[in-house]
Amino acid sequence: MKREQWKSQIGFLMAAVGSAIGLGNIWRFSYMAYSYGGGAFLIPYLTALVTAGIPLLILEFAIGHERIGSAPLAYAKIKKNWEWLGWWAVTFVMFGIVLYYVVIISWCLNYFLLSFNLGWGSDPNAYFYKKFLSLSSSPSKIGEIRTPIFFSLILIWFINWVIVYRGVQKGIELANKIFMPMLFVLTAVLVFWSINLDGASIGIRAYLTPDFSKLSNPKVWIDAYSQIFFTLSLGFGIMIAYASYLPEKSDISKSAILTAFINSGYSLFAGFAVFSVLGFMAKAQSKEISEVVSQSIGLAFVAYPKAVSLMPGGNLFGALFFFCLVVAGISSSVSIIEAFTSAMVDKFALKRRPLVTTICILGFLGSIVFTTEAGLLWLDIVDHFLTNYGLVVVGIAECILAGWLFDIYILKRHINKVSSIRMGRLWVALIRYFVPLMLAIMLAGSLKAEVTKPYGGYPWAAISLIGVNWIILTILAAVVFALRPWKTENLKKVGRGQRHR
Ligand code: ALA
Repeated sequence: MKREQWKSQIGFLMAAVGSAIGLGNIWRFSYMAYSYGGGAFLIPYLTALVTAGIPLLILEFAIGHERIGSAPLAYAKIKKNWEWLGWWAVTFVMFGIVLYYVVIISWCLNYFLLSFNLGWGSDPNAYFYKKFLSLSSSPSKIGEIRTPIFFSLILIWFINWVIVYRGVQKGIELANKIFMPMLFVLTAVLVFWSINLDGASIGIRAYLTPDFSKLSNPKVWIDAYSQIFFTLSLGFGIMIAYASYLPEKSDISKSAILTAFINSGYSLFAGFAVFSVLGFMAKAQSKEISEVVSQSIGLAFVAYPKAVSLMPGGNLFGALFFFCLVVAGISSSVSIIEAFTSAMVDKFALKRRPLVTTICILGFLGSIVFTTEAGLLWLDIVDHFLTNYGLVVVGIAECILAGWLFDIYILKRHINKVSSIRMGRLWVALIRYFVPLMLAIMLAGSLKAEVTKPYGGYPWAAISLIGVNWIILTILAAVVFALRPWKTENLKKVGRGQRHR
C-alpha cells in the first residue's frame, strides 16, 4: 500500500500547527502565566521552548521522516524490541487523553451556544459546577450522564470522524488549511476587541510585568517544561506520524522551528485577550487582578463567562472565544486519532475507512464516562497521570532510544541533508543529555509529590483504580499490539538515511 502524503509543505505545516495549537494554548498557558506572576513565566517558558521543545520536535520529525513510519513502526525500525513504546504512546493518547479532550471541546461547544443569550445567568460559578456539570462529590459517585454534554460529544466525535475518515490530504490537511487561518483571524478580532476594554491595561500590565521572585521556585520551571511538552504535542506519537507523510525532499528543521514559534506566538498573542479581559473584570468588580480567577478550568468556564456578561456586546465576544476553543481543540484531536490510525495501518494493513469508524465509535464510548457527574474528577485524575507520567516517560525513552541505543548521527545527517537549518553537536548534546535530564527531574518531582500526598486530595482507591490502572492497562495493550505479527512489509523497508539494523 502506498503511504499517504501531504499535498504541500504548507499543508503539513498547518496540520502540525493545528495539532500543537489546542485547548492548552488558550487557557492552560494563560493560567500558568497568571499564577506564576505574569511576565516572569515567559522566561522559563521560552527557555523550555528553545532548550527542549524545539530540539525534541526536530527529533520527532526526523524519526518519522527518516524511518518513514508512525511511532510503533519507526521505533521498531530503530530497535525491534522498542516497538511497544510507540504503541503505548499512541494507545494512551487515543484511549486516554483524547477521550477527555473531546469532552472539554464539547463543554466549549455548549458554552458557545450559551453565549448567545448569556445562558449561565448571574452566577457562572454555580452554573458551571452545579447546573452544567452537576459535579459529584467523589469519583466513585458517577451519577448520571449530562445530556447537553453527551449530545455535543456526539457532534464533536462526528466532526473528528469525518475529517480523519477523509484521509491525510482531503481530510486533515484540508481541514487545517481552513481551520488555522480562521483561528488566527478570529483570535486577532478577540485580541483587538479585548485590548480596547476598560481596564484592559491592568491585565496587560499583570501579563507583562515580571515577578522575578517566582523564578526561584523550581515548580515554575517544571511547569514550563511540561507546558511546552503538552503544547507541542510531544510524546503523543503525532509529530512522528505527521512527518512520515512528508515527501523525500522536505525541510525538517525549518518546519519544526516554524511550528514551535507559530504555536508559542499564538499562545503569547492569545494571552493578551485573556489578560485584558481579566483586567476588565478586575476593574468592573473593583477587585485585584489576582482575585478574579481561582482555578485553571475556572478561567475559561467561570471567569470568562462572568466577563462576557459584563461586557457590551459580550454575547458575540463569548461566542467567538468558545468557537476558537472548539476549532483549536478539533485540530488537535484529529491529530491524535490520526496517530493511532496510522500505527494500525502501518502494522496490520487495515483499511482506513472502517478502521477510523471503529476507532471513533470506541473513542466515543470511552468518552462517555467523562460526561457523567463525576466526569471532571475522572478527567482530572486521568489527565494528571497520562500527562505527568505517560508523556514524560515517552519523552525520556525517546531521547535514550535515539540518542544512545541508535546512531543519532544517522538522524542528524538526514536532517542536514534535507533541511536548510543544520543541526550540530549542540542538538545531539541536548537530545542525549539535557532533555532527558530535565524530563527526569520533572518525573522525580511528580513521583515525590505523588507519594507525599494523594493527588488533588482524592482517595487513594480512586487514584490507583483510575489513574494508575489507566497507565497499566494501556501498557498491557501496547505490549499485545507489539507482539502481534506484522501484516505488512513495512518493517523490512530501510530508513531514508541509512540501512537500519
Ligand atoms: N498540543 C495540544 C494542546 O495544546 C494537545 O492542546
